[in-house]
Amino acid sequence: MTWRVVCKRSDLPGSRGWPVRVGAASIAVFDVDGELLAVDNECRHVGNPIDDGLVDSGCVTCPWHGWRYDLRTGEHLTMFGRRRGLRTYPVRTDGDYVLIEVEEAE
Ligand code: FES
Repeated sequence: MTWRVVCKRSDLPGSRGWPVRVGAASIAVFDVDGELLAVDNECRHVGNPIDDGLVDSGCVTCPWHGWRYDLRTGEHLTMFGRRRGLRTYPVRTDGDYVLIEVEEAE
């Protein structure tokens, strides 16, 4: 595992995510009331990006068709409960920069 700088903290909008790439991986980074969270930026419905989805109560709603995900766990929230959802990534800051922990090959 290795930490990669992906953006500046000031890049992150408050109510939506920010898209970044680490190798071939497309990741969305969110600032949820000062807590940084990162998930795969590919909705499990049909694969559209979710970084532009609205964030509420630690969850993002996909802007395309409304699937909802818990940003801390990545779980997909449905009216029937929780289902396997998005991969999550550890996030930290170093000064003004945001870093994500990924596999060495990513
Ligand atoms: S692509 Fe996200 S809900 Fe359809």
